Amino acid sequence: MKIYLVVAHPEQDSFNFALHNTAVGVLKNANIRFDVSDLYGQNFNPVAGRGDTTNFPAGDLFQLAKAQRLALSSNSFVNSISQEQEKLVSSDLLIFQFPLWWWSFPGILKGWIDRVLTSGFAYGHNAILKPKKVMYSITTGGADSKEELDYYQNKIDGLYQDIFGFMRWEILPAFIAHGVQQKTHDERQQILASYQEHLKMVLRISNT
Ligand SMILES: Cc1cc2nc3c(=O)[nH]c(=O)nc-3n(C[C@H](O)[C@H](O)[C@H](O)COP(=O)(O)O)c2cc1C
Repeated sequence: MKIYLVVAHPEQDSFNFALHNTAVGVLKNANIRFDVSDLYGQNFNPVAGRGDTTNFPAGDLFQLAKAQRLALSSNSFVNSISQEQEKLVSSDLLIFQFPLWWWSFPGILKGWIDRVLTSGFAYGHNAILKPKKVMYSITTGGADSKEELDYYQNKIDGLYQDIFGFMRWEILPAFIAHGVQQKTHDERQQILASYQEHLKMVLRISNT
């Protein structure tokens, strides 16, 4: 099994990176191979468009999905996309680490989805990428009641279904760390310990 960790947070000192580093530690301890994309660290460009491919015919109406299919068949994606796609091809499970921003992905991660999970490669007729397993690890601003927790869960289920459900990937239970900025040091340590257990559970069910 090989795992692909995609982390989308601007600050290495953030709780998101503490969670990401916890995942790295669990995988190293278990001797599981993995790749990492630190989207801010590698200055990933999230803006999809003409710059994604090198061979779209000048003068034709630019359509992104069409440009993506053309680039796939002629090996004409720019390096920043093809490098991510290579990591995807060689992985069995993707783990996305991100803070919930406006009930969604940070823009840099949404842009990664737009530019890397391309037409004909990840979805669409005869897509070549074998469906993978996927897990989200998300931090939030916080929930105070059962109603709010349910609201978050529904939103996160939607974030799974709209992308990875659509592509028929196997969706694994998300790890959701609520209200991390209000937590004490000890409470944060407990969350990190729970994340270790969550990851071990996910690794067990992914291997079966
Ligand atoms: C631009 C922005 C949008 C946010 N939107 C939400 C939101 O929709 N729901 C929520 O619960 N928290 C929201 N938050 C709070 C973040 O989720 C929270 O600050 C983050 O998960 C904390 O993790 P960190 O300390 O690693 O940054 C938002 C924060 C920012 C900066």
